[in-house]
Amino acid sequence: MAVDVISSPIPFEDYFSLDDSECEQRIIEAKQALGEDLVILGHHYQRNEVFRHADYSGDSLKLSRNAASSDARYIVFCGVHFMAEVADILSRPDQIAILPDMAAGCSMADMANRINVDKAWQEMSAVFDPDTLVTPITYINSAADLKSFCGKHGGIVCTSTNAPHVLDWAFSQREKILFFPDQHLGRNTGFKMGIPLEEMVVWDFDKPMGGLTPEALKNAKMILWKGFCSVHQMFQPVQIDNFLKKYPETKVISHPECSFEVCQKSHYVGSTEYIVRTIAESEPGTRWLVGTELNLVNRLHEQFSAEGKSVHFMSPTVCMCSTMFRVDPQHLLWVLENLLEGHVVNQVSVEPDTAAQAKLALQRMLDLPI
Ligand code: 13P
Ligand code: SF4
Repeated sequence: MAVDVISSPIPFEDYFSLDDSECEQRIIEAKQALGEDLVILGHHYQRNEVFRHADYSGDSLKLSRNAASSDARYIVFCGVHFMAEVADILSRPDQIAILPDMAAGCSMADMANRINVDKAWQEMSAVFDPDTLVTPITYINSAADLKSFCGKHGGIVCTSTNAPHVLDWAFSQREKILFFPDQHLGRNTGFKMGIPLEEMVVWDFDKPMGGLTPEALKNAKMILWKGFCSVHQMFQPVQIDNFLKKYPETKVISHPECSFEVCQKSHYVGSTEYIVRTIAESEPGTRWLVGTELNLVNRLHEQFSAEGKSVHFMSPTVCMCSTMFRVDPQHLLWVLENLLEGHVVNQVSVEPDTAAQAKLALQRMLDLPI
């Protein structure tokens, strides 16, 4: 069947007047009718009412592999914009990637862009030739044109799961790394691999030369972009100290987007998939304090209480990814019902030249043996 790609906003009154059970029932029916033409991918941070409809769930690495291996004509990504871009880049040209709500971005990804990264590369070349000395690594939480920058300059993409392996690869190519946009993932991973903190400098993209002296740049092994996740920066070491005073037997597990101090105080650090797996494999009766997004922690709390495990959220205040939360059941239903009528709404499509170079950097990552 031929499809039209249309650009129109969700008809608010048609979808937001539905009650939850009606919305859910219509999503189930639309999924059934679309059959093998459709795959729904759901990131762990999605709210339950959306997450339950995912054919595959996981972290960014797992979902990018799912997108690359799917045969479905439509890949509906319940996550954020960069994830749908990766699905578009890695899927076949005849497949269509869809993001239910185009406003679902990632505030951390937005902290680096092609203009300020090109400028940084240019400014560094006053001190050394970056194309000889520096491997650029972009966290998968970044726009496609930054992945394309890495493809063009001999660089690579990483996720929170494979960051140590990617750093190994990067150092086997060149002696320094420029890591963007998340300084915390860069620092936590570099330190774990034995790079002293003094050899990791922060590039402040608002300042000339990143606010660094030529000497500091020459001595650095890792140049970390001054980006961060506004959700994970809410977790504080004192929250761990206070909890451990009350429940000393607690195991602490955090996402590597948390600060260095939080990760240093955590017993385990890893991606969302790692967090899910580690808690699932723990002994009944274990108490967990978790430093990652609230929707996932709430789900883990519900899922594992039956096994006698208690899962607690690290922060006393709500830390929810508001952009992940943009994807609601109403938007999911809207895109599915449009597909049934032969209309594609909210297609995410990366311009071909950008996609080709971004794919180089993604493929270097996917080719690593992990
Ligand atoms: P994961 O790859 O660990 O799922 O992380 C993605 C993300 O955006 C965390 O904030
Ligand atoms: Fe981006 Fe942070 Fe949300 Fe992850 S939790 S999608 S890094 S804003």
